[in-house]
Amino acid sequence: MVIKTVWAVYFSGTGTTEKVATYLAENLARRLGAEYKAHNYTQPAGREAPLSFGPEDLVVLGTPVYAGRVPNLLLPFIQENIHGEGALAVPVVLYGNRNFDDGLMELRNVLGDNGFTSVAAAAVVGEHSFSTLLGAGRPDGEDMALVDQLAQRTADKVKELTALPAQGVAVEGCDPVRPYYTPRDRNGEPIKDFLKAKPVTDPGKCVKCGLCARLCPMGSIDGEDVSNIPGKCIKCCACVKKCPMGAKSFTHEGYLYHQHELEEQYAGRRAESKIFL
Ligand SMILES: Cc1cc2nc3c(=O)[nH]c(=O)nc-3n(C[C@H](O)[C@H](O)[C@H](O)COP(=O)(O)O)c2cc1C
Ligand code: SF4
Ligand code: SF4
Repeated sequence: MVIKTVWAVYFSGTGTTEKVATYLAENLARRLGAEYKAHNYTQPAGREAPLSFGPEDLVVLGTPVYAGRVPNLLLPFIQENIHGEGALAVPVVLYGNRNFDDGLMELRNVLGDNGFTSVAAAAVVGEHSFSTLLGAGRPDGEDMALVDQLAQRTADKVKELTALPAQGVAVEGCDPVRPYYTPRDRNGEPIKDFLKAKPVTDPGKCVKCGLCARLCPMGSIDGEDVSNIPGKCIKCCACVKKCPMGAKSFTHEGYLYHQHELEEQYAGRRAESKIFL
């Protein structure tokens, strides 16, 4: 098949999905002799208009895994506004060293419903949004070498295609997808008010540059007073990890309990990145 444009279309709070999706799409474009384009839908402005693709497009669609699935507040945008109309896709999820559960399956299925055919896919480990210990420094050289391999094998596969594959690529996960992963305490009870947790701002460190308000994917931080977060917080940690002064943090008891629990259970191991062809 002849592909004229390879797209990186992605959401990325702390940059790991962006790193993998753009690298993979650029690499594929080079190998296929196609143009490279990118659409970042992290900020609200990137989700204002629908995106439509066609038979000469290959779309690397990247999203982090939140609670074992595609982030629930982004799912409607993907479902309703990203149209394939005969395009090929490579769904890519980033996950924070715990598990990608059904995130990749869900993304592949939604893309299939929207007129894409997934020709390859990947689940890559990224440093966990909540931590600097969990998946620290991932994706690293080893992960990116696997992404290189994926680009090469996907390009070879696409060049050999004479028609759209009858089915999307097989990926790991349950189909139908399972409910969202729920953070639990030691007694197995869901952590109280976890969804309500929002970052706090240290007034001694904040220089009022306004970066966090511009970066927040939910547009939830008040630009006039960044300590005020009137909107929803998806805990993407963009404001926490990207504040140049280190002024933002979570102090919510349940959030910190979950963060430490995850670090205790999973920081000591190296989860695998996986590719599917
Ligand atoms: C609300 C939330 C839920 C998450 N749930 C999971 C999960 O279920 N499994 C996992 O391994 N990582 C999980 N993560 C970690 C992210 O998937 C991971 O850090 C990813 O690399 C973030 O991508 P980004 O840098 O593009 O924002 C979660 C992160 C957030 C913010
Ligand atoms: S990015 Fe940090 S320093 Fe800048 S306004 Fe936000 S909290 Fe303050
Ligand atoms: S306020 Fe919440 S949603 Fe907004 S950038 Fe910070 S962690 Fe992400």
